[in-house]
Amino acid sequence: MIPVSQPSVGELERAYLLDAFDSGWISSHGEYLGKAEGLLRSIGEVQHAAVANNGTTALHLALLALGIGAGDEVVIPSLSYVATLNAVLYVGAIPVIVDVDPATWCIDPVAAEQAVSSRTRAILAVDLYGCPADYEALGHIAHGHNLFVIADAAESLGAAVGDRQVGGLADVTTLSFFGNKIATSGEGGAVLTDHDWVDERVRRLRNQGNHPTRRYHHDILGYNYRMTNLAAAVLSAQLERLPELVANRVRVFEAYRQLLNGHGVTTQAPGPHVRMTPWLYTVTCDGYEADQRDALMAKLLERGFDSRPVFQPLETMPYFSPGLQHSRAGRVASRVSSSGISLPTFPDLRVEDIQRIADAVATAMREIETQN
Ligand SMILES: Cc1ncc(COP(=O)(O)O)c(C=O)c1O
Repeated sequence: MIPVSQPSVGELERAYLLDAFDSGWISSHGEYLGKAEGLLRSIGEVQHAAVANNGTTALHLALLALGIGAGDEVVIPSLSYVATLNAVLYVGAIPVIVDVDPATWCIDPVAAEQAVSSRTRAILAVDLYGCPADYEALGHIAHGHNLFVIADAAESLGAAVGDRQVGGLADVTTLSFFGNKIATSGEGGAVLTDHDWVDERVRRLRNQGNHPTRRYHHDILGYNYRMTNLAAAVLSAQLERLPELVANRVRVFEAYRQLLNGHGVTTQAPGPHVRMTPWLYTVTCDGYEADQRDALMAKLLERGFDSRPVFQPLETMPYFSPGLQHSRAGRVASRVSSSGISLPTFPDLRVEDIQRIADAVATAMREIETQN
């Protein structure tokens, strides 16, 4: 079975991990934490990077640090992993879910601006499948309405818009280092920012609200969202290898693109000056409903290839009842979600396997067509 994702971890990760282990610093102190944060600062070209124990807690920390809480509204896109929605709910704020752009599948800036009210505090954009959102447009909207822009860049480490790297495109950027991400530490996350005050708050909040000088004095409610030195060791190795990891993903994307071109599928189209970091190779199958997409996934599985559907629109999560006045989500997200499929994408995926997967997709789609 070829999985959808597989981490590329090897000798360097192993050496750093054992070094951290042998140092005895296996919890949240140790030299690899500083090393990983330094690497993130230089990759993102930002002043500050604070690592956390996963990408969801990084989002939670970002919202808390910005002072977003009960009664505030945060505009988010309909298409994302559920963590984006959950983090907004954790702080008691109201997620205002809007549609995505048909080309980029990222938050539609026009829909985002229409959703801004007197209670809106931030736009939380998501760089879906490694494609940065339109931060230029979002920045203008934020400036005009005095809002923060937060980038959920869990899937886009290493991407850029013009000469600005992911990390410095928004007021605050969060990353995930889950096993299927561009760089992994097993579980892990980070908050990147150029604002000193945001970083200061993030560091206190992730460490139980610890007072900077008075031991065991906690004057704010904090959390234990710290990363371990062991995870930071693996992460440091991955970040040192980032150019190679990204180049291999680009290679996989390019191979799929060439092989599947003209086979009734459509890919994301990044905006001008955008260099995406390919995360999962994801296409919509032209004219497909969800049951046809599910049939395609089943046929691929029969041939030994795992796949994933595109994320389910966030407003459809059964536990979330937005009240209709708060949900302006839309049809683009729904169409991309029901006709979209992610194919196996990881740095070590061999070219002959990509060929076999692409052949299987083309054959399965022909079979589905003749059945209809
Ligand atoms: C867009 C997005 N946001 C947030 C997360 C949450 O990250 P984590 O799984 O590390 O908590 C993920 C990935 O899992 C994601 O894809």
